[in-house]
Amino acid sequence: MKLIARFLKPHLWLCVVTVLLLIVDTAGALFIPTLAAEMLNQGTSGATFDAVLRTGGLMAAASVLSGVCTILGGYACATLTARIGKDMRVALYDKSLKLSKYDFRHFGIASITTRTVSDITNIQTALTSFIQMVLPVPFIFIVALVLAIRLDWELGMILLAVIVIVFVLALFIMNSAAPLFQKLQKLLDRMTTILLENLTGVRVVRAFNNEQREEQRMGRAFAAYADTSIRANRRFANLDGISFFCINLFVVIVYWLSGGRISAGHLQIGDITAIISYATMVLFFLMMAQMVIMMMPRALECCERVQVVLDHTPEIQDLVSGPPQPFDDDAPEVLSFRNVSFRFADAEEDTLSELDFTCRRGQTTAIIGGTGTGKSTIASLILRFHDVTRGAILLNGTDIRRMPQHFLRERLAYVQQKAWLFSGTIADNLRYSDPDASRETMLHAVDVAQAGEFVGALPDGLDSFVAQGGTNFSGGQRQRLSIARALVKKPELYIFDDSFSALDFKTDAALRRALAKETQDAAVLIIAQRVSTIQHADQIIVLHEGRMAGIGRHEELLKTCGVYREIYESQTKTAGETGKEEREP
Ligand SMILES: Nc1ncnc2c1ncn2[C@@H]1O[C@H](COP(=O)(O)OP(=O)(O)OP(=O)(O)O)[C@@H](O)[C@H]1O
Ligand SMILES: [Mg+2]
Repeated sequence: MKLIARFLKPHLWLCVVTVLLLIVDTAGALFIPTLAAEMLNQGTSGATFDAVLRTGGLMAAASVLSGVCTILGGYACATLTARIGKDMRVALYDKSLKLSKYDFRHFGIASITTRTVSDITNIQTALTSFIQMVLPVPFIFIVALVLAIRLDWELGMILLAVIVIVFVLALFIMNSAAPLFQKLQKLLDRMTTILLENLTGVRVVRAFNNEQREEQRMGRAFAAYADTSIRANRRFANLDGISFFCINLFVVIVYWLSGGRISAGHLQIGDITAIISYATMVLFFLMMAQMVIMMMPRALECCERVQVVLDHTPEIQDLVSGPPQPFDDDAPEVLSFRNVSFRFADAEEDTLSELDFTCRRGQTTAIIGGTGTGKSTIASLILRFHDVTRGAILLNGTDIRRMPQHFLRERLAYVQQKAWLFSGTIADNLRYSDPDASRETMLHAVDVAQAGEFVGALPDGLDSFVAQGGTNFSGGQRQRLSIARALVKKPELYIFDDSFSALDFKTDAALRRALAKETQDAAVLIIAQRVSTIQHADQIIVLHEGRMAGIGRHEELLKTCGVYREIYESQTKTAGETGKEEREP
């Protein structure tokens, strides 16, 4: 409810117009049976044709007015709920952009997707129906009751009793179905998660001949959803039946009692039809309202799910709003780690411990270490995807927590370990770093990233199509396009997280040569597994189990750092052995 109120507020005037139109619409609809009854009474009591004609004219006017208001009300209502749905999606998407990797894991990507797409559609549909079908109901009940009581006090009271019974029943059933709908949304999340997992990993499923197992897993998820859905809807089917029974019983009572009343002269024939019309109208709106009420537990659960995400405090927040003052744009020490330790929220040990190093402008710093030693975590900390547990990271001498995330990331270019491209064209992807980048800048970046040859060979060049994730390119091509994207940005600090791993040795060497020229005014941080990629770096940090096992140049480390020597020897030995095998016939 808090959620609806928050998003309804900016559209209050449209909401008022919608409700007013609906009130006129229903008032018109209720006026028609009253006029019909009057006409019938005029007919049976021998009134003049002119009088009957006048009542007929009024009836026609009431139906036209009610019809016009129905159309306008429907239009206003659809506009209102569409706007609210859009605002909610924008708010949810904005919020998800602020969530950290950890926050995302907490909710689940499938669940955030379901919340943004299907949950908000549920809310929107329920809100439309609520405004059109439920909101006028109290008004209709009151007017119909007053009109019925005006004609016959006793029959009016019976109608009131029927309304109260059906209303209490609806509330009771809605309450009892709420937990089922809660469960239903969770099952929907689960179904989406398994489906997404299966569709993205469809090749792995096929390669391991696991189609049947996955089919069974999906089948179980579908069956659980269907069973719960049937159980929830069965409760509402009972409500429908009971409401029909109550109203029809009322009609029978009206006919039964009215015979005596007509002969006694208390009621006229027209009045009976009017009361029956009010009752049927009440029944119609009750049935409609029930259909909408069926949607309510689910819509309320959806509101709750959206609200939880909106209320979630992101792990990383801007602690200051404006750019840091002072900020030295030309500081020689671009990035400094000051005794940094880091532990993931759900981990028992530190992933990184006491890191202390500096990346200088115009220099290349490399980080090498075994798999799982925390190299990518260092990149995440620099980008503030997580905050350090102890110590501090400084950019140009200022703690990165004392600047807005946008200010920080504007100065960094990051090529992630798993190259990711967006669907669109190559140029769209390159402009991701700088929307105003010229074609020359983009072509130059592509050349430096050693992607010029294959991009040039594509019929559409920079305008070639890129599939979601960049899956229509090879791993190495994707890596080079991601590097080109980083180069377009011209930042102060480049972070390449294992970005050369899919390149052959020749391309790797050519790329590093071209990069050195391109990145003269910036600091470069290269994370790598291959010694050959980083041996010419100005300083190499050897990471071992989250700690710095050594720092220095290649030659120094070979002499002083056992871990580095081991990595170097294991790689040169393998290369040597492979070479030997290749030479042997
Ligand atoms: N979100 C997380 N929560 C808890 N632990 C994590 C999380 N992400 C990574 N880790 C752990 O942190 C450690 C370091 O991971 P990281 O990705 O930094 O390694 P890496 O050195 O980049 O490895 P690789 O060379 O394979 O890319 C790993 O042991 C990993 O299990
Ligand atoms: Mg990594």
